[in-house]
Amino acid sequence: MIEFRCFRNDDPPRLADVWRSADLGPAAMQPMTSALLEAAVFSKPYFDRHGLIVALDGERAVGFAHAAFGPATDHGGIDTTVGTTLFVAVVPHADHDAIGRGLLERCEAYLRSRGATTLLGGGSADMRSFYLGLYGGSDLPGILDSSSDMQGIFRQCGYEVAERIAVLRRRLAGFRPPINRLQVAIRRNTVLRVIDEPTRRTWWEAATTTGIALRRYELRNHSEEVLGTASLWDMQPLAAAWGVTAAGLLHVAIEGQRRRQGLAKYLLAEAMHDLAQEGVSLMETHASTSNSAALALFESLGFETAEYGIVFRKPAG
Ligand SMILES: CC(C)(COP(=O)(O)OP(=O)(O)OC[C@H]1O[C@@H](n2cnc3c(N)ncnc32)[C@H](O)[C@@H]1OP(=O)(O)O)[C@@H](O)C(=O)NCCC(=O)NCCS
Repeated sequence: MIEFRCFRNDDPPRLADVWRSADLGPAAMQPMTSALLEAAVFSKPYFDRHGLIVALDGERAVGFAHAAFGPATDHGGIDTTVGTTLFVAVVPHADHDAIGRGLLERCEAYLRSRGATTLLGGGSADMRSFYLGLYGGSDLPGILDSSSDMQGIFRQCGYEVAERIAVLRRRLAGFRPPINRLQVAIRRNTVLRVIDEPTRRTWWEAATTTGIALRRYELRNHSEEVLGTASLWDMQPLAAAWGVTAAGLLHVAIEGQRRRQGLAKYLLAEAMHDLAQEGVSLMETHASTSNSAALALFESLGFETAEYGIVFRKPAG
């Protein structure tokens, strides 16, 4: 008989155990430990134990699922109208699918009880409340195709595909920025600043990136106007578990009226060159398959799609 209950303070070793035994695919940090979960999950200021559901078969934890919320529009707090179940992990078990569905249904009940009217499945750049660095690579990619068990549970509970996210990678060894007239003109007319451990711009950015080594590149013109920024982080220890040194690109953005002038390509190429010089061997980023500008930018810099993730949505009613 499987029992479900919410998180208790002595659960971390049990949850690390479930994580290690469940088939989460290669994009999940392994071997999982209580300390890693503490840093990326339980220490977050918005962690709510009622959103983390544990499944027990007798004394043994056989699964857990975690539901959470994303930021309010001003990134100064949480918005509880949109909730997501970030993660459903179940160990090999005769009742595997039933345990997964039981966990997911309880996560949905939790999200609704807090006021959620939109229910998603999986995290994303907009919903990276927990697990950055523990699952999915440079950011949360929904539920990856390589986590087919987890995708199956969402599908069994009626979830549909809301968004597909491409996981894009580029080897950096020997990388040289493109040299052409456009790039030379940008270099002449701009200043590129590299800021390690920048002051986080919002409460949400601080909450979600504390504990990771963040670097921001800022491109300005000679009047000190910011033209664009890129935020990267050192993907340790996840990348070390893959046997590489990797940088994760969390975000790149160019000011609206400055787009289509080669600025993002210049900014990222400079960042990639710096990282290659520092011995970083791989850069990873994620982009929604509906973001054609981002896909064109990354393709022009030699990124290739390694796999896809899905952000699910539960149809209303
Ligand atoms: C994506 C973004 C950063 C691109 O910046 P940009 O400065 O306009 O890009 P560039 O001018 O350097 O273009 C780089 C390449 O992408 C292509 N590209 C850029 N925008 C494009 C668009 N809207 N449609 C098609 N191709 C596009 C360019 O043609 C260029 O290709 P090329 O080198 O083969 O000529 C910008 O559109 C943006 O800030 N978007 C909002 C934030 C975002 O979506 N970030 C990405 C995910 S984190």
